[in-house]
Amino acid sequence: STTHRLALIPGDGIGQEVIPPATAVLDAVGRRHGITFTYDTLDWSCERYAHEGAMMPADGLDRIAGHDAILLGAVGWPGVPDHVSLWGLLIPIRRRFAQYVNLRPIAVFDGVRSPLADASGVDFVVVRENSEGEYSEVGGRVGTDLALQEAVFTRTGVSRIADYAFALAEQRRKHVVSATKSNGIIHSMPFWDEIVAERAARHPDVAWRSEHIDALAAKLVLDPRSIDVIVASNLFGDILSDLAAAVAGSIGIAPSGNLNPEREFPSMFEPVHGSAPDIAGKDLANPLGAIWSAAMLLEHLGHAEAAEEVTAAMRAQLAEGSRTKDLGGDVGTTEFTAQFLARL
Ligand code: NAD
Ligand code: IPM
Ligand code: MN
Repeated sequence: STTHRLALIPGDGIGQEVIPPATAVLDAVGRRHGITFTYDTLDWSCERYAHEGAMMPADGLDRIAGHDAILLGAVGWPGVPDHVSLWGLLIPIRRRFAQYVNLRPIAVFDGVRSPLADASGVDFVVVRENSEGEYSEVGGRVGTDLALQEAVFTRTGVSRIADYAFALAEQRRKHVVSATKSNGIIHSMPFWDEIVAERAARHPDVAWRSEHIDALAAKLVLDPRSIDVIVASNLFGDILSDLAAAVAGSIGIAPSGNLNPEREFPSMFEPVHGSAPDIAGKDLANPLGAIWSAAMLLEHLGHAEAAEEVTAAMRAQLAEGSRTKDLGGDVGTTEFTAQFLARL
């Protein structure tokens, strides 16, 4: 039997409501597959910030560097500026652990209504650059009337995300769309395009094209079935992933893996959604984004079969009409989770 040590950061708002369902699912499939999980639950959050003046302890990253993976709910809460919660926790974890791939699969499940007339068969992955780009630390306020931020794109950074996307496409339908804005406006984007083209040349079996981010956003709504793998910069990938999640029925389902492909450091799994202050504490949160993220964690740790059981249970439960409110149903978080565990 295998034991995995996980760092849990439920965080704020519905983060605290969706992580217990996810760990209950891990425990349930773990029992059947001889996998034991031990959890170190960390109170790193805006609540901690309010008491201690910091989202996490000064040596927080060292404390989780040796874990097998990190499972995070979401951070951010009214009263604490988002730049404090994000630069104080989420972004340092992604950067320190070189989680430069943010992998965000999108699928339309039977029983889930998409806002599109026909979304059946939509199945793609957003490969988001997760360590640089528009999310740079270069810039800030200049006096009272000016704010600047430099986008930072490095040859290493663009090459490795492109390589990941092309390798992934080789395992799928062999098609990549690179999100760009190279039409003379954003200076860093022709650089991105040039490097993506260079890396693409190493994968002659994968068809690919560049598409302007604005047109691609429209394509995502008009013809999402044509998409297999999207490779995008940090900000473009962030925006496309919420759009794609909505196209697939709800942001409450969408999962993500912040991956360190070299496995030198722990990877972090978290739903795409945030802390949802508008529904927090009301038993309304859809736990599937966190549960699917836990399935990605299983797969990352080498348990593909156990991961498949979790996604199969998601498919079955949605197909049978058990749905939380974001999906048009009336099943609460607690009841939905109980049904899910019974199914497993
Ligand atoms: P959000 O994702 O929290 O909420 C957007 C909308 O989607 C809300 O109407 C919410 O009710 C709904 N929603 C989100 N998740 C849902 C779920 N599981 N089930 C049902 N409905 C769900 O985005 P926001 O409102 O822009 O951000 C709120 C806070 O979360 C901010 O502080 C933001 O910075 C933070 N945030 C954190 C993360 C993270 O930690 N990874 C990610 C995104 C946003
Ligand atoms: C996400 C979130 C974060 C991001 C925010 C909260 C900084 O929106 O994980 O998608 O933009 O990366
Ligand atoms: Mn986002």
